[in-house]
Parts: sequence; C-alpha cells; structure tokens
Amino acid sequence: MRKERISFELEILDGVHELSDVYRNLLELAHTTRDHAYAPYSNFQVGAALLMENGEMIIGSNQENASFPAGLCAERVAVFQAGARFPGKTIEAMAISAAPKHGDISRAVAPCGNCRQALLEYEIRQQRPITLILAGGGGQIFKCASVKDILPLAFDRSFL
Ligand code: THU
Repeated sequence: MRKERISFELEILDGVHELSDVYRNLLELAHTTRDHAYAPYSNFQVGAALLMENGEMIIGSNQENASFPAGLCAERVAVFQAGARFPGKTIEAMAISAAPKHGDISRAVAPCGNCRQALLEYEIRQQRPITLILAGGGGQIFKCASVKDILPLAFDRSFL
C-alpha cells in the first residue's frame, strides 16, 4: 500500500481590491445576477458570471421549481448557456456569489458537486483551466486556478 496526498492551492483574498479589474467586474456581475435568482423555496440566491475568451460575459442564477429536482443551479444555467451561445469558445473564468435572500453570508460559497462535474466537462473539452472566483454576499473571496482542483478523482470520459 502507498499513500498519496492530493492538494491544491487556494487563494484566499483579503478583499476585492486583490482582484484584477476584469475579475472584479465579473464578481460584481455575479452579485447583481444573484439578486434576480428565482429561489422562492430555499430563499437561497446564487448568481454566476462567466467570462468568455472574447470578453463576453454570460450570467446565470438559480432557477427553482415546485417540483424541487426540476430546478437548476446558477452555475449550470450559466455554463449551459455558454455552450449553446458560444460553442467551441473558451471559458476563462467564473465568478459565483451566493447568499440567503434575507441575510448575508460572509464565507465564500463553493459550487455543489453536480455543478463541479458539469463545469469540469467544459474545462476538459476546452483543454484550458477555468479560474473560479467564489464569494458569499461580501467578505471572504476564494480564487481557484481550475475546476479540477476542487473535484479530485473526477469521473470523466476516459472511464467510458
Ligand atoms: N445552488 C446553486 O445555485 N448553486 C450551487 O452550487 C449550490 C446550490 C442553489 C440550488 C438551490 O436553488 C439553492 O441554491 C439551495 O440549494
């Protein structure tokens, strides 16, 4: 038996001032998108903003449903839109903002497992990492260099 440690580098920012202008704008867009989420059941709102290689930004917010599993997370709303609108184009970064509708959350919120899997598919497809900028309502901001960092031992097409 041998053991292997899997680790990755997480950037914990001291504030938005540590982001480049373009990433700060992207996060700002994720925050404003979050306000328009359709989340009447959980009252937990999530906004995502994607930066494409051509500078275009694509947004997504969580869309819930009375039949709960029929709803979709913000990240997948955004990334599927990118796939449909700009097939074959590279996604450079994604900013995610999440908070309860009537409150705030100071911790950076990480995407759910399903969204990590969906995002990884695009990262593998484009053979370029997607930078992730994670935030709550304000406060803590995390930056990750790629989706695969936050989904170790992922399932991918090589197993099929
Ligand atoms: N949600 C997202 O939009 N993204 C995530 O990564 C985690 C959860 C949404 C789904 C649901 O509408 C609400 O947050 C509560 O789980």
